[in-house]
Amino acid sequence: MRISGATKVAGVVGAPVRHSLSPLIHNAWIEAAGVDGIYIALSPSPQRFAALLDGLRGGAMRGLNVTLPFKEDALAMADRASDRARRAGAANLLVFEADGAIAADNTDGEGLLSALAEQAQDLDITARPVVVLGAGGAARGAVVALLDAGAPEVRIVNRTLARAEVIAEAVGGPVTVHEWGGLREALATASVVINATSLGLAGKDPLAVSFDGLQAGAVVMDMVYRPLRTAFLARAASEGFTTVDGLAMLIGQAAPSFKAFFGQAPPTSVDVRRLALAVLEETP
Ligand code: ATR
Repeated sequence: MRISGATKVAGVVGAPVRHSLSPLIHNAWIEAAGVDGIYIALSPSPQRFAALLDGLRGGAMRGLNVTLPFKEDALAMADRASDRARRAGAANLLVFEADGAIAADNTDGEGLLSALAEQAQDLDITARPVVVLGAGGAARGAVVALLDAGAPEVRIVNRTLARAEVIAEAVGGPVTVHEWGGLREALATASVVINATSLGLAGKDPLAVSFDGLQAGAVVMDMVYRPLRTAFLARAASEGFTTVDGLAMLIGQAAPSFKAFFGQAPPTSVDVRRLALAVLEETP
């Protein structure tokens, strides 16, 4: 890799960010496309996040992807935000404009939809209700994306009903809220169920739910990608459901980010999924 005075710098900011796959994905695209660019990882102390962004105003860097725990703060600090970022209540993409402004966007929803399109090709989001498990930031972004894609109803299932109600209120539209006890009813007639809780992440309890009530042919997606094959997905697959993994979503959100940083779509000549899978196998 050749770094020059003209090299465009982009990156990801998070805490922790050490195990982020974004540098691997973006740098592989940079190299394959022959872009004069580099993609780095930044991990400021949370109290210095705002100061870091302020210092980057004016274009010291092209932009940043944002991951936990900064997504909400990133949106709050931006001067402009896309409609989808505002409705998701979070930004995963910041672009530093030449005039000093920070523009926020959220491509997570696009990533979610592209993951479904890639791994569940027969799914028609507009046909039947969809179920989102969880009511944190990740769930809110998913709800917005699914509504925008034309889902006739989004059913949020969460341990804390009040958090689901806050999302339903904030995003508007055909959203219903359910407790875990109502899962079976929520799954009935659903075309897809998506885990947007943090359960199943390496080091946390697995998401142990029953797919009772879910119709044959339905799709089961997990936003968790560490591990890639969560217990939730393994069980869904063993019961014959089509499964969609979180890595497809991660790559799906990275593609529009790359375009925002470097002005071109990522090249198709490099298989970043294969590269990421190799890393996940080594450090699950
Ligand atoms: P994120 O911003 O990544 O979505 P979050 O805001 O901490 O993270 O949300 C985590 C989600 O996982 C929430 O829906 C949470 O349920 P609560 O709103 O009831 O807290 C869910 N979650 C985490 N641990 C859980 C557990 N042990 N059982 C059930 N749900 C859990």
